[in-house]
Amino acid sequence: MQEQARAILRHNDRGGYTVPTAGLYPFQWNWDASVTALGWMTFDPARAWEELRWLFKGQWRGGPNDGFLAQIHFHVPSDTYFPGPDEWGTDGASGTEQIGTRTSSISQPPLHASIVRWMWERGTGPDQDAAVGGLCESAVRELLPRLVAHHLWWYRTRDPQRTGLVVNIHPWESGMDNSPAWDAPLSRVPRTTRPYERRDLGHVDASMRPSREFYDRMVYLMDFNRAQRFEPEALLRLCPYQVHDIGIISILQRASRDLVHLCQTFGLVAEAAQIAARVELTQRAVQALWSDRWQQYVSRDAGTGELLEVPCSAGLLAAYAGFENDAGPTVRAWLAETPFGLPSTRSTCSGFEPLRYWRGPVWQHINMLIARGLADQGHGALAQEVRTRSEQLFARGGFSEYYDPLSGKGLGGKSFSWTAATYLHWIAS
Ligand code: DGY
Repeated sequence: MQEQARAILRHNDRGGYTVPTAGLYPFQWNWDASVTALGWMTFDPARAWEELRWLFKGQWRGGPNDGFLAQIHFHVPSDTYFPGPDEWGTDGASGTEQIGTRTSSISQPPLHASIVRWMWERGTGPDQDAAVGGLCESAVRELLPRLVAHHLWWYRTRDPQRTGLVVNIHPWESGMDNSPAWDAPLSRVPRTTRPYERRDLGHVDASMRPSREFYDRMVYLMDFNRAQRFEPEALLRLCPYQVHDIGIISILQRASRDLVHLCQTFGLVAEAAQIAARVELTQRAVQALWSDRWQQYVSRDAGTGELLEVPCSAGLLAAYAGFENDAGPTVRAWLAETPFGLPSTRSTCSGFEPLRYWRGPVWQHINMLIARGLADQGHGALAQEVRTRSEQLFARGGFSEYYDPLSGKGLGGKSFSWTAATYLHWIAS
């Protein structure tokens, strides 16, 4: 399987960046790129760093969105995906003047600093030769200011009041697009009335993809963002969808801890202190997102202040984030309910749909992050159990985009980069 996984990355390689899978996703995606780099790192370190270099080529510089890193980087044109760059309309937006690629206007979970730390530690570890170590060190030095700028973008534009909880302004930004956790806040977002043509249904069966109604609201929010000229202050004042997403908050928290470590190691003392202060704020503020009902963290509607009482796998990233509660008991309960856990939505929740994208299927990179957090928290056996379940899925469903937690069947796109990369990273660690 190792050779098959490597072949998938090579096949999806577009000369420096990797598409998630041909046809369905023909560009470079933000959090996909980080996970994919981990896979490249196991057999081609130079190519792994190249993945991140390509991603950061599209980082906006200057203007109110300085440091912004988009969800999609449209390095070359393709007509197999909707919405493409003309729909997002970011050309000429303040901050894009110097960048060499077109991008969307929303971000995605900022995994990068954690991935950079793991890649650097792997590349400079005892088994590596000096050439790889040197390569890693120069890549980290190059990327570090970019990572700092990106984290400061999140904190400055999405939590200007320093509450400790950043806001997400589009479900696609969460990366967990059609999670049932977003149903309530999304119901207040109008459905667009303008015509558009989806392309995803030409690649994947409709039963595994988000609904038409969901897309209508995605398009509305995309257009809304463009109408505000991507102005962060206006978006936080006016955007009809605003959520404290526990997935983004947890991933940002872990990445910020890792970034503080990297900054300290590479002598960026003031930057380390700036990010560390935000980590402290989040550590306290996240307590407001605890659900007594589900015994885990959940997201919150930032518009109404109500907890979104939908138990998602994002809420199992608490140990990964370094939040203080014991993640073990709830993960055990989830594992007892679904044979091929961990599903993206708990199977006992009314919004659970085992085949439909982020409403139930298992995503391997999320399992990998959850297992890593469990191991960090001292739950070695439980982390191993999550990994064993994942291995069963690789064996049954190949390197699919996601999997049915009840049957283990592979779903969505095939020959999927981040799934192959997760496998490569796991077997190498
Ligand atoms: C899609 O098009 O389904 C992507 O997940 C958006 O990022």
